[in-house]
Amino acid sequence: MTVSSNVLRIGVAGAGRMGRIHIENLLETRFVQVTAICTPVKVEQDWAAQTVPEANIFADFKDFVAQDNIDAVMLVTPTGLHKEQVFSALQHGKHVFCEKPLAMNVKDAWDVYYESLKYPHLKVCCAFPRRYAAQYMEAARRIKNGEIGGIITLRSSTTDLHMDNEYFINYIKGSGGIFVDCNIHDIDACLFLIGEDKLPVRAYATGTTNVFPQFAEYGDVDNGLGLVEFECGSLVMNVYSSRDNRHGHHSTTEVIGTKGRILINGEPRILPIDISNEHGTRYLGALDHMDLFSAAFKAELAGFRDWVLHDTPANFNLKDAAKAVSIGSSLMDSLRAKQAVPVTTL
Ligand SMILES: NC(=O)c1ccc[n+]([C@@H]2O[C@H](COP(=O)([O-])OP(=O)(O)OC[C@H]3O[C@@H](n4cnc5c(N)ncnc54)[C@H](O)[C@@H]3O)[C@@H](O)[C@H]2O)c1
Repeated sequence: MTVSSNVLRIGVAGAGRMGRIHIENLLETRFVQVTAICTPVKVEQDWAAQTVPEANIFADFKDFVAQDNIDAVMLVTPTGLHKEQVFSALQHGKHVFCEKPLAMNVKDAWDVYYESLKYPHLKVCCAFPRRYAAQYMEAARRIKNGEIGGIITLRSSTTDLHMDNEYFINYIKGSGGIFVDCNIHDIDACLFLIGEDKLPVRAYATGTTNVFPQFAEYGDVDNGLGLVEFECGSLVMNVYSSRDNRHGHHSTTEVIGTKGRILINGEPRILPIDISNEHGTRYLGALDHMDLFSAAFKAELAGFRDWVLHDTPANFNLKDAAKAVSIGSSLMDSLRAKQAVPVTTL
């Protein structure tokens, strides 16, 4: 589908936790119109009708995706639905913005990637906000410029504020595991910073369940460490994640090269304020992912709009999104098998 006007008409599927954030952000984005919203949940339909009175509200995805006034479909639905909904959107001639992760398993993720290649006139992305965070973009630019030489290794971590309530424990049960749910952002950020199509070949993961022993029942851990080796020993990725960070959310990435290193978000601040007193100096850290990346969530929407409307080069990379599912799944397999495993890419 070519979009002939200067305004991108977006239909949003999903108005839950993340869907609402995207819809609010879309309302603030120029040259974008939210023409339709789809959710089977009545209370979310009511919220959508109040928030975007001009949009048509749908309960059924099949009715929604067939609408003529949608140029691009945004999928903010449960990950298990992404594959069939991307396929359906493409069949209806829609561009696609799909939330991460691309799919629940390796086969589905690569199926989506290969299916997208059959529609070269349509743009399909899997959204990872760090690709549009200014600090990651600047680091990627400098790495490409050769400022730290060739990459030897990347270390990236995502540690979430400690929570211990029923919602959280239930969420963990269905999350797919710490490397898929939490570190998928680090894995994709590392692939973005590598900037080349390198093949991951082997993964090893381990972890602990000292804080939440019950996670062991789901084959999961509350603190996880993973190592991923790329073809011919060319480079190594190291990821760390935790469900038990006491001072807030801490996402940081370090790239070590042959001529130098780059540290991103060394001190993930919510505000540029340092407080000093007799105990020393402290900064105000981010409490959650959104605190650190709210600007990036808005920038990725503008990036998608310009990619579709004007063919402006974008930071999205669907093959990397499929690779990220391969790497995250292999790390979970390794954790459960207690040994290194090959990374399956299809
Ligand atoms: N980028 C990020 O940092 C980030 C953060 C949170 C969630 N996510 C991703 O966003 C997606 C949604 O997560 P969430 O936390 O918002 O989940 P959620 O459960 O809060 O929301 C899911 C939404 O999908 C709707 N839905 C369910 N079945 C549907 C169907 N058949 N058709 C249309 N809508 C349907 C639900 O009614 C709900 O509105 C997931 O893939 C998740 O991984 C990404």
